[in-house]
Amino acid sequence: MRRKLVVGNWKMNGSLAANAALLDALKAGLGQHAADSAVCAPAPYLAQCQAALGGTPLAWGAQDVSAHASGAFTGEVGAAMLADFGCSYVIVGHSERRAMHAESSELVAKKTVAALAAGLTPIVCVGETLAERDAGQTFAVVGEQLGTVLGLLSDADAARLVLAYEPVWAIGTGQTATPAMAQEVHAQLRAQLEQKSAGKVQILYGGSMKPDNARELMAQADIDGGLIGGAALKAVDFLAIIAAAG
Ligand code: PGA
Repeated sequence: MRRKLVVGNWKMNGSLAANAALLDALKAGLGQHAADSAVCAPAPYLAQCQAALGGTPLAWGAQDVSAHASGAFTGEVGAAMLADFGCSYVIVGHSERRAMHAESSELVAKKTVAALAAGLTPIVCVGETLAERDAGQTFAVVGEQLGTVLGLLSDADAARLVLAYEPVWAIGTGQTATPAMAQEVHAQLRAQLEQKSAGKVQILYGGSMKPDNARELMAQADIDGGLIGGAALKAVDFLAIIAAAG
């Protein structure tokens, strides 16, 4: 039985004051849940997360990482730096970075390697646009995105990933994939992971997951949790989704 995992992606939101209030409310409300949970904060707030969350069951992570270890890469943040601040996770290949920062699957694969080398758990995001879905290309698109990452990894490293299926058309739109639609894609991703002996990897669903749809989505056989954007900024909503995970 795979453990459930619920991860908040704060995106470029927050402030010291707002984060303090959110983290306090999360810590107070977390209780005893069977699911693992984490928040992925903007890089400047990782020290704040480390100070607030150290010793609690809530883990933290970053939203992006450089493919390079160190050096003349102005503005970039290396995986070892994230590890220095106690990060467990880092999101790589989020569709907003693929679309707005022209990140290719090859770059996402290199970032995944860099994260693993620093002992972080990469949360690798894959997902199709609406045009790709309408053209019947969903499986080809997510298959290529995952396949490029797996191509750079040993079987042992592939087993250390977390994968997130985030249909681009469902992110921030209020339009969620139906549980059956999501499960169909998750099952194909699982089969692809199994070819690398990595079938136990947790596969999260992301895209307008909310308290009222989380339970049904996470009840699907191959949906092992959620990557939550908007609803992760409200403590009551994020806690409700963690509770729905078990
Ligand atoms: P959303 O974002 O929950 O606001 O749709 C999910 C994500 O982009 O990770």
